[in-house]
Amino acid sequence: MERFEFTEEYHLGLPDIDAQHARLFDLFNSLIEVEKRGAAREEICLVVDELVDYIDVHFKYEEWALHDCAYDNLEEHRAKHADFVRQTIDFDKAFRHHGEDLSWEILYFLRQWLVDHILVEDRQYVEAMKGARV
Ligand SMILES: [Fe+2]
Repeated sequence: MERFEFTEEYHLGLPDIDAQHARLFDLFNSLIEVEKRGAAREEICLVVDELVDYIDVHFKYEEWALHDCAYDNLEEHRAKHADFVRQTIDFDKAFRHHGEDLSWEILYFLRQWLVDHILVEDRQYVEAMKGARV
């Protein structure tokens, strides 16, 4: 799996959210890197922790910002986040407690979800958020 570049198409034009998405890409790239290198489980665990923690921080921030601008689809957006968090926790448990490998299949799933979410769902709130900030 090649590195995950935070190219122009992922920019929403909201500096705080863009910076957080860029950080998510960075953390995801660290995960690709340790997986490629065949790093020890402990090291992979640390990177997974960092990514999972940051996903939580980012989603909370985004939901707060959407609430702040009275975004119509907040509940739907929140449900998408919650669903993703549940799946991430399941992978994390399987990896951490049941001795399963963090497979490329999981990494592809995580990456695809993030890409689709930013390009489709997140893009839908851009106008509402920009409107609330002027
Ligand atoms: Fe989102």
